[in-house]
Amino acid sequence: MLKLTFDAVARVSPSFRRFLMRSWYETLVMLDRERDITFMNYGYAGLDPDASEITLNDREQVNRYCIQLYHHVVAAIDLSGKDVVEVGSGRGGGAFHITRYLKPRSMVGIDFSRKAIEFCRKYYSIDGLSFTQGDAENLPLGDGSVDAVINLESFKDSGLRVVRENDITLNVVRALELDNDRKERLIAQKCPKILKRATQEFAAVKGTRTYETFKSGHSRYLSFVLHKEQRAIT
Ligand SMILES: C[S@@+](CC[C@H](N)C(=O)[O-])C[C@H]1O[C@@H](n2cnc3c(N)ncnc32)[C@H](O)[C@@H]1O
Repeated sequence: MLKLTFDAVARVSPSFRRFLMRSWYETLVMLDRERDITFMNYGYAGLDPDASEITLNDREQVNRYCIQLYHHVVAAIDLSGKDVVEVGSGRGGGAFHITRYLKPRSMVGIDFSRKAIEFCRKYYSIDGLSFTQGDAENLPLGDGSVDAVINLESFKDSGLRVVRENDITLNVVRALELDNDRKERLIAQKCPKILKRATQEFAAVKGTRTYETFKSGHSRYLSFVLHKEQRAIT
């Protein structure tokens, strides 16, 4: 019901939609006082049971599928020594992981949720990583000031040339299934009853409309590598 109301209102006013989205993410930050949630994406799982997986330490293992989605997204580009921005960095787990393992020169996480940025600034302390509040539609960045922009499940960009498109729906569905019990446990621990259904839908746990539309193929989960068009210098 909450989701249907959200969808109906969001269709009428994009700015009200942004306001609702931001409020929703601010609420999620407040629900997780124990700081158990550092990733908020659907995840990615390989489909070949014999393929080797990335090595993660014990603390990272719990977020394996979310981390694998980051690895899938950044695989096209060598980020080492680059200036990188993540738009919609959420609870910062991805920006932290990239900084630690892929060694960009700088990594800036940007999110329109003030509480998410406050959380990240308190939680992460590692050279080269910083967090700034900002809206993807009006990024606080100078022209040509970054080498790569990462965006996972936060904002649809336009005006960029698509150099690769991958349909990873099956990988995402597999990850949703493998990570389902952990997400249900977190929701049971942290969510007041009134927000339970909406949070299950947001997390796409089994049985929700979001999960079912991916599973049936009615919705597709796409990943893109995009390049900014080069302007000719005359
Ligand atoms: C589903 S979460 C994903 C967070 C993170 N990328 C991850 O994978 O864990 C989406 C995040 O994008 C942020 N977001 C959504 N729309 C945004 C916008 N227009 N500008 C900046 N941040 C935005 C939300 O506040 C939220 O933290």
